[in-house]
Amino acid sequence: MPVYLDNAATSFPKPEPVVRAVCDVVKDVGASPGRGAHRHARRAESILSGCRDRTARVLGVSDPERVFFTRNATESINVVLKGFLRPEDRVLVSGMEHNSVMRPLRGLAARGVATDIIPTGPAGELDTGALETMLKDRRTRLVVLVHASNVNGALMPVDEAAEICDKAGVPLFLDAAQTAGIQPVSAGDRKLGMVACSGHKALLGPAGVGVLYVRPDLEVLPLVEGGTGSRSEEFEQPDFCPDRYESGTPNLPGLAGLSAGIDFILNAGMDAIREKEIELAMLLENRLSEIPGVRVFKPRLRGTGTVSFTAGRLNPAEIGFMLDEAFDIAVRTGLHCAPLAHRTLGTFPEGTVRVSPGHATTVEQIEYFMKSLRSILDRAAR
Ligand SMILES: Cc1ncc(COP(=O)(O)O)c(C=O)c1O
Repeated sequence: MPVYLDNAATSFPKPEPVVRAVCDVVKDVGASPGRGAHRHARRAESILSGCRDRTARVLGVSDPERVFFTRNATESINVVLKGFLRPEDRVLVSGMEHNSVMRPLRGLAARGVATDIIPTGPAGELDTGALETMLKDRRTRLVVLVHASNVNGALMPVDEAAEICDKAGVPLFLDAAQTAGIQPVSAGDRKLGMVACSGHKALLGPAGVGVLYVRPDLEVLPLVEGGTGSRSEEFEQPDFCPDRYESGTPNLPGLAGLSAGIDFILNAGMDAIREKEIELAMLLENRLSEIPGVRVFKPRLRGTGTVSFTAGRLNPAEIGFMLDEAFDIAVRTGLHCAPLAHRTLGTFPEGTVRVSPGHATTVEQIEYFMKSLRSILDRAAR
């Protein structure tokens, strides 16, 4: 049986209503929102605003106009880092960040932006005491935290970190790529500065839509400028939101799919989906720990169903190849675009085998995965 266990990369299969919503827009809607007054354009506008309302609800944002759509979480992260940080600024990041954060910061180093890593333990746990001390440096203008690691599912202590950042007057930017749709983001209640997320992971939408939230008091320059369908008589980029951050034709089929994905989550219940995925992760952790030579990188606090492990001398890439070739099981192996996280966990440079169940994963699929893995490891031991 084909088994997909790579939901941390992108969720699959998408719920049927998501597939239908995407197809319906491609088939039926011949316009872009804000471009025209005919019925197609009005329908496009209502798809866009419906998606904005739903996304704001999922993120805990009271004003939907502060929610902006991008192409993916990577673009949202780039908007914030390049549009907010200035030369001489210092930014603090956890030891579990993705390259979507680390690479733009490496680029910004050439422009005088310094990056420091907040001490993070070998299971991915953040040292909040160190964060408090590091925030005393006046140059610190931003703290970036991944909400949950895409390598081992470790959940960051966001409530505590948000309180510490708020006291220091430094915005906290949450990378919720892995968590939006499965963990409450509570952007408003936590007074988060900015939030970036992917539409195609736990929010269950198709690829091609990312989300960005920016608190109204924070000045972030847009990364892309151009036509917005508004104030067309002016050469200046509109200064009001969301138009300031949304230039060019949006991905309307993607937005319709994202809306359907969010409706699916709200109907099924975010807590129920999370509990199920975390239960599957615990089952995996327990079963993997029973195998001699297998090392599971368990987080202290788990935020998602993502599990990472290594198996003695057998390379993660070989295991992934055999799972796919012989058993039709999809997992991800290697560094998962997060070399910093692997350095923190002690799994750099080979990385790990990452198994990430999703909303549609069953216990039978996990059992089949375990049986297949055992057979690969038994054969390698002979
Ligand atoms: C923690 C984290 N941040 C950022 C990203 C980038 O997301 P996207 O693919 O939407 O650009 C990912 C994707 O894997 C991720 O896991």
